Amino acid sequence: MNLLDRIKINARQYGKRIVLPEGTEERTLKAADILAAENIARIILLGSPEAILSEAKKFNLSNIDKTTIIDPKNHPDKEKYIEMMVELRKHKGLTTDEASKLIEDPLYLATLMIKAGDADGEVAGAMNSTGDVLRPAFQYVKTKPGISVVSGAFIMILQDKEYGDDGLLVFADCAVHPDPTESELAEIAVATAGTTRSIAGFEPRIAMLSFSTKGSASHPMVDKVVNATRIAREMAPELQIDGELQADAAIIEKIGQSKAPGSSIAGNANVLIFPNLESGNIAYKLVQRLANAEAIGPVLQGMAAPINDLSRGCSVSDIVNLVAITANQASGN
Ligand code: ACO
Repeated sequence: MNLLDRIKINARQYGKRIVLPEGTEERTLKAADILAAENIARIILLGSPEAILSEAKKFNLSNIDKTTIIDPKNHPDKEKYIEMMVELRKHKGLTTDEASKLIEDPLYLATLMIKAGDADGEVAGAMNSTGDVLRPAFQYVKTKPGISVVSGAFIMILQDKEYGDDGLLVFADCAVHPDPTESELAEIAVATAGTTRSIAGFEPRIAMLSFSTKGSASHPMVDKVVNATRIAREMAPELQIDGELQADAAIIEKIGQSKAPGSSIAGNANVLIFPNLESGNIAYKLVQRLANAEAIGPVLQGMAAPINDLSRGCSVSDIVNLVAITANQASGN
């Protein structure tokens, strides 16, 4: 069974409530129809009920009546959420008037529903930028205890099964945090180990990537990766992790043995942690295009509840897949 089929089968068992704030958007609505028909999650659509139902009729979507539709302008718990917002953001000076306006924005309402325990996860981004999806999540859902940064991992499914774990590799951070400090980079490695176990389904062997292998170059950027490796080991002593390693030393056995003899990760890594967002984002897109790999994600990690961001170029099946992944994350898996 392939990875996505397994993720969908698991999601069905969990019955998680996943909120889709872009409820009137065509691809989102078509995905909601499939998700409801296949029982992958309990879907909550945000938007004007009239607009959602008329679009559903236009596209002949007969399963939308199995979803819950909520109008952000008339949510019965609006006052409760406004109070929560003011309480959570009083240190930033948020007033009741400002919160009353923000709560009608579906991206804010979705995060407040999660914070209040009225939804288990969120998928958005088909028509909103990454920043607009993530900002309310950062402000109200916040990070998990012990984690200060949210980051984004991709599960890369390669044609060539010789690499990683039978052709599967996890890359991070490819989506969120532009320039992590050494301790943030260590947190990203630890969070990615969790995503690897729970979503990709294998035991992580983590390479902390650099342009240097074991002291072949000296530069403050190399020091950052060396220190991040040490901090990650302190944070999670059970982790199989090594660095600093160049990409070829990380994934090709012969090169790993010659450049980093004695390393149990070199030549054998299935998780690649990039030193910053530039390298991670460029690397995943090049592997996706040049090696014709499938890139599943970004799976956002480190948030206190699962919230995932779509690319604005996403397809209906991208949305279905990301909702299934979000439901798995919400189950604690
Ligand atoms: N993790 C946790 N919290 C964060 C993070 C993070 N990575 N980044 C910012 N925050 C918090 C801040 O602490 C702040 O909280 P506060 O209001 O309680 O003080 C709040 O979020 C807003 O912080 P800003 O610094 O103002 O962040 P901003 O909203 O400007 O930027 C953003 C955040 C949008 C995620 C920014 O870092 C960004 O643009 N990242 C790149 C995203 C991107 O373009 N990715 C590539 C495309 S995705 C792809 O190709 C798949």
